[in-house]
Amino acid sequence: MHGAGIIGLSIAWRALSRGLDVTVYDPDPGRGASNVAAGMLAPVAEAYFGEASLLQLSLASLSRWPAFAAGLGDVGYRTDGTLLVARTGDDLRELVRLRQLYTDWRLPAHKADPRELEPGLTPRLRAGLLMPGDHQVDPRRVLAALRERVPVTGQLPDADVTVLAGGCWTPGMPVRPVHGEVLRLRPAERSGKPTIRHVVRGFLDGKHVYVVPRSDGEVVVGATSAERGFSTAVTAEGVRDLLDTAIELLPELGEFELTEARAGLRPGTPDNAPLLGWLDEKTIAATGHYRHGVLLAPITAEVITALLLDQEPAVDLAPFAPGRFECRSSLMD
Ligand code: GLY
Repeated sequence: MHGAGIIGLSIAWRALSRGLDVTVYDPDPGRGASNVAAGMLAPVAEAYFGEASLLQLSLASLSRWPAFAAGLGDVGYRTDGTLLVARTGDDLRELVRLRQLYTDWRLPAHKADPRELEPGLTPRLRAGLLMPGDHQVDPRRVLAALRERVPVTGQLPDADVTVLAGGCWTPGMPVRPVHGEVLRLRPAERSGKPTIRHVVRGFLDGKHVYVVPRSDGEVVVGATSAERGFSTAVTAEGVRDLLDTAIELLPELGEFELTEARAGLRPGTPDNAPLLGWLDEKTIAATGHYRHGVLLAPITAEVITALLLDQEPAVDLAPFAPGRFECRSSLMD
């Protein structure tokens, strides 16, 4: 296994439990997106036009998350749902457009009064949409639990089969880094009451922000998105925009302590869907999970282990074939 992020470790954990002999190689564990990710398990809120296959894979993975989390202990798995809110007329139009998509795809999403669900939200909101099926987990706790179960080495091993799970550092794959800044905040004093219960995603004057509450009071605010190569620098503009938008949405956050500002690199592919499958008889790709690595960890672990065991995967992997882009470019030659 190349890569000790959430994808590589999840596959290794599953493969070990099926009796396979696995070595996880990573010269720099912890540098990837898994450590920065907010941990939204949000197939509905992240569903987007033209990404139907990815949605099916995401739903399949979400259905596996309860058992996956239970096997890891307390990893902050929460089922409170996602609340999507809009402020201006343009923001509302975007919400309506997304609602139509959810209706077309028969996804659970219904109108909700934002302040009835979350009294801490600004009164300047036009509408809300609740997605009760979207969940969350704490990726750092997931990583720590996986690391307890799966050893990682910095020595390149000899292997019969290599699984490439190196995120945007996976060599020879159509994967590029997509820079995302994420902030972590804490209440200055424990007030005893949580700031919010749901994951809240806001459209405010065209700016998009998500706010993810943890059970211990921490609030994760994300995320910017930019193409900046492999730089993981945190920009002043990124922090300002996230804070401005989050505080506008939830004024109480202005009193919080800013405890961390970090940037991670999402492994993006040309169609935003992962690369899953055999590259040659000795190599399997399991990378390119873009915005969905945490959500897709259980299904990725399951299907890649099935390939390693020479079994039929539970889902059709054709839409995620690692060679799908080569095909397109040769047709265009
Ligand atoms: N999945 C959220 C993000 O990539 O920002």
